[in-house]
Amino acid sequence: MPDWKDRSNPQFGRRRAVARRQGAVRVRPGSAWQRALAVARERQPRHFAEWQASDAVCHRRRAIDFRALPRSCDPLWGGGVPPIRAWRKRRQIENVLGPLAELTALLKRPAHIVDFCASSGHVALPAAAVLKGVTVEINDLRERPIDIARERIAALPPALRARCTARVGSTETHTGPFDIGVALHACGVATDVVLETCLRRRAAFVLVPCCVGRLAQRANRGRNARSSLPKTEAFAACFDLPKSAVWRGALSSDEAKALARAGDCTARDKLTADDRERRACKTVIDGDRLALAAERGYTVSHFLMRPFGITPKNDVIVGYPSEWRSPV
Ligand SMILES: C[S@@+](CC[C@H](N)C(=O)[O-])C[C@H]1O[C@@H](n2cnc3c(N)ncnc32)[C@H](O)[C@@H]1O
Repeated sequence: MPDWKDRSNPQFGRRRAVARRQGAVRVRPGSAWQRALAVARERQPRHFAEWQASDAVCHRRRAIDFRALPRSCDPLWGGGVPPIRAWRKRRQIENVLGPLAELTALLKRPAHIVDFCASSGHVALPAAAVLKGVTVEINDLRERPIDIARERIAALPPALRARCTARVGSTETHTGPFDIGVALHACGVATDVVLETCLRRRAAFVLVPCCVGRLAQRANRGRNARSSLPKTEAFAACFDLPKSAVWRGALSSDEAKALARAGDCTARDKLTADDRERRACKTVIDGDRLALAAERGYTVSHFLMRPFGITPKNDVIVGYPSEWRSPV
């Protein structure tokens, strides 16, 4: 029997670290993600509940009468989305426009908004129609949706058309200043690339993350590679999990990946106990994203879309540079 108290034993430090960790955290039996979630709950920084309760940015959906907008701004008529999905997409857009309106008011000058991973501009076009004076840019990797976006823009009344542009290109190659970045359902690490782009430009962000399971894939592998993310070394850190210092102190990379893998809950109503636990995993991943922004001087918040069932990926995470609120 080895003497564990013997400092010359090569296992000495390791044994002590494991014992300390097991003493500090009640490890539940179960799968890897359940154990990781128990660790996350035990050690979670106190920020997330505060951000959910925070009134730092609007938590309300901004109702829009889509019939009163130019047809091109409507996902049903302009975007060619089938009726049931278009009804849901309209509600999703309204939930994004709530914080967008609040942020543009905070900026106190006409904002330039980039709709990243925009497809044909489902968010950008109603935003341009509803928010006074803003200019919008529709950005997507694929050419086909941008062609549709250009057709939608061409069908707008001239004054509105003048405030809308569309561009083919990946987020990480986007250049030029902007004030607010939006991404509705940018899959996996695509959300992190948008977040990083916004943080680097000191722009506010309104993000609705989806497909967090893909975060557990390594760079250059799996579907993320096919959607060419991220190509540049500068964005390689977007694959890191956890991202924030505060969560790196609480979770290992393997634990965070287990949470990401488990976090893709697709139930939109009648959630089972298992669904709720999986949603809690995604909450940790989104909390890590917000913690990263907070560590870089952002005021951040989180809310759930209403009505709840319009999409299973209904977390909205919002942040703006804290200096936007500071007295000049
Ligand atoms: C699920 S769709 C969401 C589209 C739209 N925001 C919506 O809610 O209807 C994700 C979009 O992100 C785009 N995309 C993925 N990776 C991207 C990247 N690195 N840069 C730009 N666009 C990207 C895809 O081409 C796709 O159109």
